[in-house]
Amino acid sequence: MQDPIEPIESNVRGYARLFPTVFDTAVGSTMTDTHGKSFIDFFCGAGSLNYGHNNRQAKQALLAYIERDGIQHSLDTVTSAKVDFLDAFERIILRPRKLDYRIQFTGPTGTNAVEAAVKLARKQTQRSHVVAFTNAYHGHSLGALALTGNQFFHSEYYGSHNDVTHLPFDGYMGDLDTSTLFEKMLNDPSSGLPLPAAVILETIQGEGGINVASDAWLRRIASLCKQHGIHLIVDDIQVGNGRSGKFFSFEHAGIVPDMVCISKSIGGGLPMSLVLIRPEIDVWKPGEHTGTFRGNNLAFISARAVLEYWNDSDFEQQIEERSQRVQTKLHAICAKHSARQFRVRGRGLIWGLDLRCGDLASETIAEAFKHGLLIEGAGAHDQVLKVMPALTIETSLLEKGLQILESAVDASLFKPVKAPAEVFHTASMSVTTNL
Ligand SMILES: Cc1ncc(COP(=O)(O)O)c(C=O)c1O
Repeated sequence: MQDPIEPIESNVRGYARLFPTVFDTAVGSTMTDTHGKSFIDFFCGAGSLNYGHNNRQAKQALLAYIERDGIQHSLDTVTSAKVDFLDAFERIILRPRKLDYRIQFTGPTGTNAVEAAVKLARKQTQRSHVVAFTNAYHGHSLGALALTGNQFFHSEYYGSHNDVTHLPFDGYMGDLDTSTLFEKMLNDPSSGLPLPAAVILETIQGEGGINVASDAWLRRIASLCKQHGIHLIVDDIQVGNGRSGKFFSFEHAGIVPDMVCISKSIGGGLPMSLVLIRPEIDVWKPGEHTGTFRGNNLAFISARAVLEYWNDSDFEQQIEERSQRVQTKLHAICAKHSARQFRVRGRGLIWGLDLRCGDLASETIAEAFKHGLLIEGAGAHDQVLKVMPALTIETSLLEKGLQILESAVDASLFKPVKAPAEVFHTASMSVTTNL
């Protein structure tokens, strides 16, 4: 297809190349293009559409709010939309989990939340160093970029690794428990690691290739942080909001981070980000860290509406049932092509099918797109297919999408894989493609 925006939009665009069509409408887990072709969405706005496109409850609430001329923009002044959201978040999410956090609204991107959390850890401890992990992804503004692992995004002239040490994530060194390295470095005054202000991690690395940290490793890291007075920041931007099967991904390990970055699906489809802060760490002076679009009231309204899912005691079970369907299919694909030694990793409704070859993954993504399935790649070599449907996807659509995926893998294996024309990455994507 001739790309209609190619002459005007920057060369940096990425997903437009991955999904070469003009999308027009979307409901739930189906997107439709201007030719009337439908696509099942396993991409989910890179994790920002956990409750589906144009979620019906959010849409009704938004229409009513706009109709009554509710406040649109408010910076951080108090509005009824914000009060309702905060009240519901406290009541539905924090209190039942016995979590005591202050909430900071940042600018609307995930990166804004990461920047604020790291900056606050530095301010509160008066230490500058931060530990991040191999294959981490935390965003692209210069502070967050310093924490992101993939070299594709880095150049020395960005000065981008300042004050950050990357340590091996769980599983990075096979069976070796990498938390012991962290422990040794913390206790050795000659290790070269300054006492960090913070450790930041994703419990499941999304962009890094669906690498799932074990609960035991997370508990060990949390305990080391506590012993040494280091703030543990969990970046739950992609795998929070129910993606892991529970509202917060760290609930599985039973840890309580000092700060949590939340974004993407929290806004029920609209941009919104927040940082949860242990009250003792909230040492900001009034107005010391700002942002014009902290007060996205439309997002407060849709966010409030989708929180209702968490009032339903069956919701986690519904995610688990869908999760089982995904796992069954992915393991069947692996078994069918056992000689290829594909791997399956994931939790809840974020699953990776590691094809161990970036070109094969790229071919499969293109083949899936041709047959009406949107899926993206992840991992250092763009070798992992990321299966990330909406938490609310109808099971018939889920099964249909999984079937398309299986056929796309089969078809790609029988094609000679071309040399990639270009490797491109965007803020939430790293894909090698022939498009
Ligand atoms: C774990 C994680 N952190 C941070 C970000 C950055 O969020 P944003 O692209 O909204 O700035 C992402 C985006 O994919 C992410 O997955």
